[in-house]
Amino acid sequence: CFSPALYPVYHNPEAIVVVVDVFRATTTMAAAFGNGVRSIRPVATVEEAQAYKAKGWLVGAERNVKRCEFADFGNSPFDYTPEKVSGKDIVFTTTNGTRAITIARSAYRVVTGAFINLHAVAGYCLAYKRDVVVLCSGWQDKVNMEDTLFGGALADILVNTGLYGTGSDAAVIARDMWTNNKKDPAGYLELSEHIARLKANHLEDAVPYCLTLNLTDKVPELVVTEDGVLILR
Ligand code: MLT
Repeated sequence: CFSPALYPVYHNPEAIVVVVDVFRATTTMAAAFGNGVRSIRPVATVEEAQAYKAKGWLVGAERNVKRCEFADFGNSPFDYTPEKVSGKDIVFTTTNGTRAITIARSAYRVVTGAFINLHAVAGYCLAYKRDVVVLCSGWQDKVNMEDTLFGGALADILVNTGLYGTGSDAAVIARDMWTNNKKDPAGYLELSEHIARLKANHLEDAVPYCLTLNLTDKVPELVVTEDGVLILR
């Protein structure tokens, strides 16, 4: 469980990296795939997203929790309905989540995790039996409660199979948080800074959804297309 700033220190090219941004980017992406999106093209900057928009792409873009004016979608999982995204390719940029994905791009495999696809992500990791690094998108390079709690939930599943040790001290702490919290993501709500940000912008409606376990079995995986572009599919 490390923040994007620390990732280069803990980069393990042989590992599976699970990028998490519970509120809301990786929840939104898992929801979009659950609703039939064909691919999501994560880009780190607004300028890249605007360039795609100018070329006619569907774009989801958020900065500081607000939808960017030029974009078709913001960063709420409720924006990506089957009617709007099924079969579509979407360009996506968020304040922290998509930046973390691009930082992790050189790992053996990169997937995105959230509480809504927790068990599916655990199954993906178990199929490879490789080290797992949980990259917590956090907020401006600070690890946050909800992403850490996800890391603890994933660690708890993997360790309980007997195939994994808890690894880093951070993973031990995160797993203890999860088990001491009776494995209920909502237990730490009052400690989540990001919920306050969402509330200040009247965007807290997605919070219960983001904290619900296993709504989809989709695991967005980062791949490089023939023309060298990173997409999740
Ligand atoms: C992020 O990428 O930092 C968050 O998903 C921001 C948000 O909740 O809109």
